[in-house]
Amino acid sequence: MSTNQPNLDLSKFWMPFTANRQFKAAPRLFKAAKGMFYTTVDDRQVLDATAGLWCVNAGHGREEITKAVSEQLATMDYAPTFQMGHPLAFEAAAKVADFMPAGLDRIFFTNSGSESVDTALKMALAYHRARGEGQRTRFIGRERGYHGVGFGGISVGGILANRKTFSGNLMPHVDHLPHTLNIAESAFTRGQPTTGANLADELERIVALHDASTIAAVIVEPLAGSTGVLVPPKGYLERLREITSKHGILLIFDEVITAFGRLGAPTASEYFHVTPDIITMAKAINNATIPMGAVAASRAIHDTVVNAGAENAIEFFHGYTYTAHPAAAAAAVATLDIYKRDKLFERAAELSGTFEDAAHELKGSPHVKDVRNLGLVAGIELESRAGAMGARGYEVFLKCFEAGVLVRYTGDILAFSPPLIVDEKQIDQIFSTVRDALRDVA
Ligand SMILES: Cc1ncc(COP(=O)(O)O)c(C=O)c1O
Repeated sequence: MSTNQPNLDLSKFWMPFTANRQFKAAPRLFKAAKGMFYTTVDDRQVLDATAGLWCVNAGHGREEITKAVSEQLATMDYAPTFQMGHPLAFEAAAKVADFMPAGLDRIFFTNSGSESVDTALKMALAYHRARGEGQRTRFIGRERGYHGVGFGGISVGGILANRKTFSGNLMPHVDHLPHTLNIAESAFTRGQPTTGANLADELERIVALHDASTIAAVIVEPLAGSTGVLVPPKGYLERLREITSKHGILLIFDEVITAFGRLGAPTASEYFHVTPDIITMAKAINNATIPMGAVAASRAIHDTVVNAGAENAIEFFHGYTYTAHPAAAAAAVATLDIYKRDKLFERAAELSGTFEDAAHELKGSPHVKDVRNLGLVAGIELESRAGAMGARGYEVFLKCFEAGVLVRYTGDILAFSPPLIVDEKQIDQIFSTVRDALRDVA
């Protein structure tokens, strides 16, 4: 693709999680977005099978959100939330709390998923310290977990590439549970695998090694997306909840991709009927119009930390200049109203069967090793080419893009997470485009 702008200098923007040299040799650029489609700079329509990066759940270019943001910017561009406030921050918190499981209704705003994760980890430490258990400093993450890119997040995360360059400076006192993917036993499972709940018992082994009195929290994604769509085995999350509760360890669900309807329920916690102590979120909170994330804490955590502070003193030494930025808060209020009014989570639940069927029809296509799915999420794992991990995934991604469908790939795993407004015809277009691409790659 040409950039259509001969003078556009691609050298200055150091791109995130991108093969910069490869990309800049053959850039792919979008210039507009509406509904389910992006428009490329050379005027091609590309169907968005990834909701941007799992974040544009209400579809692109929602006028109500744009209007709310522009009116807010015209009225008040910015207001601090350190020792000051503005009504929209409180309104947005109340609306977010409304979507959370009962009891998790104390909302701390951030600007991204990574910041939400670091905030949650700090809340866990602050909570234990406030209860006189300041020796609980250890965190337990999980292999293949993705919790953003802060030092806290990569430490509890379980992705080699994100850790190895920084390995000498990761957060200390972190251990990891094994991941739950078992292709040998569960390939092509529709929904949750029936085996693997016992992997949660590994937490007992870790507790026996370190002692519960040293462990602050366990953090997992209830359904992991970025690392290749890992669906929790039936009973696994329930077991994690039981063990953490038994030992006074907090349970943090990182719902950066699952909160706001991805599984057809407001949160994965509600979908699985397992309530953690803290939920991190970001992506779909305001349809990705303005950067924003949030952390929902239980009242017990909030009240313990806040009530432990000295009178008239700050209780939690944490926050961001842009916490509850007025434009982001306006976008959140407008977005959360759309989710409710348009019943988008119910729509996601209704479409999930069609989506599952369409994804699983790729069983038997060339290179396909596994298909996994839940709600409006699907992952298709391909056999890797000998000595070239990720090459096939990239080629399929590129062919789909050229054929007018944006998919996501991580190594040789393709991931699908369309906006919740997707329709059956578009679901068909997504997976038939992938089928053709799979036929075309070596
Ligand atoms: C589960 C999870 N946590 C955290 C993050 C990090 O979010 P951000 O990129 O907004 O920092 C992501 C992003 O994909 C994620 O999927």
